[in-house]
Amino acid sequence: MIDVSLAKDANNVVLETKNNKLVFEVEQGQTAKLLYLGLKSEMNIQASPNYTKTEIYPAFGIQNNMQHAIQVTHVDGNMSLELIVEKTEVLKDGDTETLIIYSKDKVYPFYVKSFYKSYPKADVFETWTEIQHAEKGNVVVYKAFSAYLNVPSGKQQLLKLYGPFIHESYVYEFPLNYGITQLTNKEGVRNTQSDNPAFMISYDGAFNENAGQVLGGALAYTGNFKIIFDRRSNATVDVVAGYNEEASHYILNAREVFSTPKLLYSYTADGGKGQITRNFHKWALNYNGIYGAKKANDILLNSWEGVYFGVNQENMSAMMKDFSDLGGELFVMDDGWFGDKYPRNDGSSSLGDWVTAKSKLPQGIDGLIKESKKYNIKFGIWIEPEMINTKSELFEKHPEWVIQQSNRETVKGRGKTQMTLDLSNPKVQDFVFKVVDDLMTNYPQIAYIKWDANHYMSNYGSTYLPANKQSHLYLEYHRGFESVLKRIRLKYPDLVMQSCASGGGRITYGHLRYFDEYWTSDNTDAFHRIFIQNGISHFYPVKGMAAHVSATENHQTKRVIPIKFRFDVAMSGRLGMEMKPSDLTQEEKEFAKSAIATYRNIRELVQYGNLYRGLSPDVNNGLTSLSYIADDKSDAVFFAYNPRKLHGETLAPFKIHGLNLNKSYKVYEINYKGTKPNYAEQVVSGEVLSRVGIYLPFLNNSEYSSIILKIEEVK
Ligand code: GLA
Repeated sequence: MIDVSLAKDANNVVLETKNNKLVFEVEQGQTAKLLYLGLKSEMNIQASPNYTKTEIYPAFGIQNNMQHAIQVTHVDGNMSLELIVEKTEVLKDGDTETLIIYSKDKVYPFYVKSFYKSYPKADVFETWTEIQHAEKGNVVVYKAFSAYLNVPSGKQQLLKLYGPFIHESYVYEFPLNYGITQLTNKEGVRNTQSDNPAFMISYDGAFNENAGQVLGGALAYTGNFKIIFDRRSNATVDVVAGYNEEASHYILNAREVFSTPKLLYSYTADGGKGQITRNFHKWALNYNGIYGAKKANDILLNSWEGVYFGVNQENMSAMMKDFSDLGGELFVMDDGWFGDKYPRNDGSSSLGDWVTAKSKLPQGIDGLIKESKKYNIKFGIWIEPEMINTKSELFEKHPEWVIQQSNRETVKGRGKTQMTLDLSNPKVQDFVFKVVDDLMTNYPQIAYIKWDANHYMSNYGSTYLPANKQSHLYLEYHRGFESVLKRIRLKYPDLVMQSCASGGGRITYGHLRYFDEYWTSDNTDAFHRIFIQNGISHFYPVKGMAAHVSATENHQTKRVIPIKFRFDVAMSGRLGMEMKPSDLTQEEKEFAKSAIATYRNIRELVQYGNLYRGLSPDVNNGLTSLSYIADDKSDAVFFAYNPRKLHGETLAPFKIHGLNLNKSYKVYEINYKGTKPNYAEQVVSGEVLSRVGIYLPFLNNSEYSSIILKIEEVK
């Protein structure tokens, strides 16, 4: 039966968001087709350039001249599928609707359920697939992507984020030429220190921030991923996205349900990249795409770049006091606090032994919590619970818990001793859950956990999985990871958690629904951060974007950058610090204190406002501008950075988009150094701010000039 609640005519089923719609042709006994992804207001979809009419889930075996979403081998050795519609169903939950298209193979008892969910407020759709069979034996699944989409003819360009350690999430935009372009990773654990599983496609030439037809996608998966863009002879682009099937063929038992990760996507007819960004942010904040969306994040001090592994009671206590004096809200003790038999002094030991190193912290965590109370500051702690060092009590007890191959020596990572635990094993899942559970049971005052993961999956193999299911490890690891996170969230809903993996090695919507924030990079140089934060902001909400002011000269790059510039950059994300505050001069301390107070006033706007990027650092030698604008457009905050003095040039006016063109705004400078602002307060119309812009010539007086402006409606 075709469920008629979404049907607009006999065989067409329509799923809508605020501005857009997906139209399907679903006829019993025929293969389901996606006809259209585009504006809701389009009456005649068949005449639209966005009319595609493609199979919803192309299968390998019969038609073999396109990208396939699924490939299996049946019990009898047949390698093909021919999926035809059995029925449809519609589920409603809040303002969302989910269309389920049930298909079955024409010959074999093999079933595919295709899910399409609408998130109306955010203009986002979500697609995923469940497969199942009732054959007499096991079917081998060689590939089962989340979704297949088709982008119609045009001069498509791709936007992706890429970057290795300390260079994560830089933006790359380039034409999608004929042939295949791929975003992929197979590190197994920390999967985004390369491509991120998120993309935008401009339908017609170069991207524009505020205009143009764009499709954005983000695969909500933290494991290995693969997104293929295939521009074929008719110039349409096939997009298939899902887990990376390499080394991951799956033995599917009869009646077992195999669920794919979910692909989120959003379309704008003329809003450009900026609209796609705002749609994803809105989705994350309104539909729990990031954990704790309703609660603004605290201003924190992290101990890592201040003392590295040299944690002790005195320096932790001093940092808490100093940060509290500056107005800080939360202190996070990073690496270096644990290991009883083997205290953690560098990267070569102790992972797995999550007890306090008594030699460093004689009063234990209780002593630190006592201090934090004294200084009226919350307390948080760093863990890396998926990992183990050979030098650890855990390894002495459970060498079999490591991802390994029994007849080969295990390749080690950091400290030449680090390895990854086998999360496919339920005992390891229990252990990882217990790391958090023990900490929270013993020290319920812990307000925050930074969850790190600094290795990948070397020596792919599991002592837990049977010989014929070794290829399940990549997938089972992430099922295990997610099941642990679910248990943690059930028991500790108020705990704030940060996701980190050697910097920005793990930022996806696969796990952000369990994490309040993410660490974008171990590169804390404010110059680099402009690019990194600009990149990650394209898809992931600013509320979770941890941005820390660190020492000068910067430890990663040796760059010397003034304190105001460092703060101005960090204040456009979730502000924090990562240094010994005692290393600041008196003048810098005063500035830091007033900047922290200023941030409290703009925090809601930064963490929840609508992001309008202005100048992009990528094309302007670092010159950047951006604004966060309240939903009702009555309030905004604007940031501009000019890291390089442009000799012999004047700066063009800065345009501020996204305001109400018919309103007047008071514009004034905040977070300035000294007694007098550079920018004299003015009342300017929204139209002038947006179309003409404002002059900020003093931003070219010296290197590392920056400004923050507050913009308020004059009623
Ligand atoms: C990783 C993280 C850092 C820090 C160190 C501690 O590199 O990205 O922020 O926590 O580990 O070892």
